[in-house]
Amino acid sequence: MAALLEVDALSIQFGGVKAVQDVSFSVPAGAIYAVIGPNGAGKTTLFNLITGLYTPTSGEIRLEGQAIQGKPPHELARLGMARTFQNLQICLNMTALENVMVGAHLRLDRNLIKAALRWPALSRRERELRQEAAECMAYAGLEDFLEARADAMPYGALKRLEIARALAAKPRLLFLDEPAAGLNPKETQEVAELVRKIATHGVTVVLIEHDMKMVMSLADRILVLDYGKKLAEGSAAEVRANPDVIAAYLGAHA
Ligand SMILES: Nc1ncnc2c1ncn2[C@@H]1O[C@H](COP(=O)(O)OP(=O)(O)OP(=O)(O)O)[C@@H](O)[C@H]1O
Ligand SMILES: [Mg+2]
Repeated sequence: MAALLEVDALSIQFGGVKAVQDVSFSVPAGAIYAVIGPNGAGKTTLFNLITGLYTPTSGEIRLEGQAIQGKPPHELARLGMARTFQNLQICLNMTALENVMVGAHLRLDRNLIKAALRWPALSRRERELRQEAAECMAYAGLEDFLEARADAMPYGALKRLEIARALAAKPRLLFLDEPAAGLNPKETQEVAELVRKIATHGVTVVLIEHDMKMVMSLADRILVLDYGKKLAEGSAAEVRANPDVIAAYLGAHA
């Protein structure tokens, strides 16, 4: 498989903290690629660098061979990147459907979306947008929540709502920051199935997750970070057998 995303000697420093240090890896197109590591290892910072929230101190990020580091998030969205956040970023005073409609704005004209949200039933385009958002929600198993206010939804459904919103931007590369955090085993299973379905439909997934059962069952390859550095990279079996990984991370969770 050709690499869709390549990260080359990527570093960022906050004051004296080297949050990500000389990290290199590549994500094959079509893969489910997991990033694991202890709290504070730099996983979210790595996502923030790749998705344009932070500018690296040094290093290069390439999407299909094209350097993208330093590009703003909306431009990266147009290139086909979408993400979810470790801390839910859902507008709680809007309906579930409206939240997902906002996701589509990343690839559409902003003014049109604003108008569509302000004057319901205004235009054919607005109806299409609603339809697309509803399809993304159904895809994520949320068809019962279309008109629900987000603040009335269970946490497990909100986690999938954020994934549905990311999918509304029609990404080819999707970043999920701890999609199963705080979920019970049944909800975790639902998220795992959703991630697998997304990948089956050709979207490359990069996943940060602490749930090792989920990571080991889903990931084609795993990157292990520790103190901002790459500790190991490989298949689930390789990573699981790596003595450095066992000592630094898996041992503590066993
Ligand atoms: N904007 C920032 N300013 C200063 N320090 C930061 C910033 N963002 C991250 N850091 C620091 O970088 C380090 C890595 O944090 P990060 O959130 O990436 O860890 P993580 O691997 O996602 O951890 P967790 O599993 O707890 O989510 C931490 O020491 C954190 O305090
Ligand atoms: Mg994090």
